[in-house]
Amino acid sequence: MNHSLLYWPYSHLLRPILFGFDPEGVHNAFTNIGHLLGKSPFTRGLTRSIFTYNHPILTQTVAGLTFKNPVGLAAGFDYDAKMTGIIPSVGFAFETAGTVTHHPYAGNPKPRLARLPRTRSLLVNKGFKSAGVQTILDRYLKKPNPDFILGLSIGATNSPLTSTPKTQIPDIIQAFKVVKAHPKYPLIDYLELNISCPNVLGAGTLATPAHLSQILTQIDKLHLSKPLWVKFPIHVNDKDAVNLVNIMVKHGVTAVVIGNLYKLRDPKAFDSQDFQKIKDLKGNFSGKPTEPLSNHLISLIYHHFGSKIVIVGVGGIFTPQDAYEKIRRGASLVQLITGMVYEGPQLIGDINRGLVKLLNRAGHTNIKEAIGTIEDKS
Ligand SMILES: Cc1cc2nc3c(=O)[nH]c(=O)nc-3n(C[C@H](O)[C@H](O)[C@H](O)COP(=O)(O)O)c2cc1C
Repeated sequence: MNHSLLYWPYSHLLRPILFGFDPEGVHNAFTNIGHLLGKSPFTRGLTRSIFTYNHPILTQTVAGLTFKNPVGLAAGFDYDAKMTGIIPSVGFAFETAGTVTHHPYAGNPKPRLARLPRTRSLLVNKGFKSAGVQTILDRYLKKPNPDFILGLSIGATNSPLTSTPKTQIPDIIQAFKVVKAHPKYPLIDYLELNISCPNVLGAGTLATPAHLSQILTQIDKLHLSKPLWVKFPIHVNDKDAVNLVNIMVKHGVTAVVIGNLYKLRDPKAFDSQDFQKIKDLKGNFSGKPTEPLSNHLISLIYHHFGSKIVIVGVGGIFTPQDAYEKIRRGASLVQLITGMVYEGPQLIGDINRGLVKLLNRAGHTNIKEAIGTIEDKS
């Protein structure tokens, strides 16, 4: 890929320093710096002038919302929505803040984040660390740029009291109610229901047809004025995946975000040195190990449902080619976290610049024309 001038200073100077520190400490420092930079129009403008790249060929309207480019920040990086002021200036067209929960939670025991650099992955076990939805909306969430598309991911509080579908569903509904009643609700463009985090008590129990139907029926009764997206697991067989998306389509879900973390400890998915490192650690994996399963499901769901549901492709995007592959398999939009951690924040502009070249080379006049152009379903 053609890197921007900022790639060298990040990869040769900043990354070696950052990677010398504990990953969660670095993430927290970035969150606090990002929070401060997002407060002032001057720092927002300066950041935008350094990082942002847009081009008309990348702009598209998806289910009524206009995205300046197809690249968004995935849920989990800005978990308390403290960076919603600065993320638009880093070049993303959209962000899913959260996952937020009804009650606050300090997170799973540490260490809960580790780097697997040879695998290009992160081990994640934060388990919905959250300041709680009310505090997050009252104190942090903002939207300085009206063109930016802001989403909020909502999941069940990670507690033994809310660890079965019977208790998770009312807890999630309470969080939706808090959001809907809040004066900042108009700032939010979409809500993302997270049924797929593998790091919480009762993980995965909502990703079954019966429980998904139950929670979507409850959400229907809230008569939300915002589109609903659902974050999908990647460890699901084809038949179950189609069943689950069928239920979403019946309930008018706008988009399916494919998908969440990789759960298996399959040595083939990891570099051998990295594999030794994760043996004694709890958690699940982002980045490259997620990519094959995510890509397969994107193709499957696109070929099965076509335009009945929007696909947001997530997992292992490090280059414009990675993003383009998901788009050609059927994703209208893409999101990432791990690629940015390894390559630096200039990656977003680099992906957008690279996508313009790939689209031009293929003779497309708008990104919409590239969606679903790979025929192969596998
Ligand atoms: C540190 C970290 C925290 C995450 N937390 C969440 C979360 O709270 N909610 C969620 O839906 N996904 C979460 N994820 C999963 C990401 O949104 C994404 O699906 C996954 O990391 C694959 O994308 P990537 O390879 O670009 O990182 C998290 C990922 C990371 C790396």
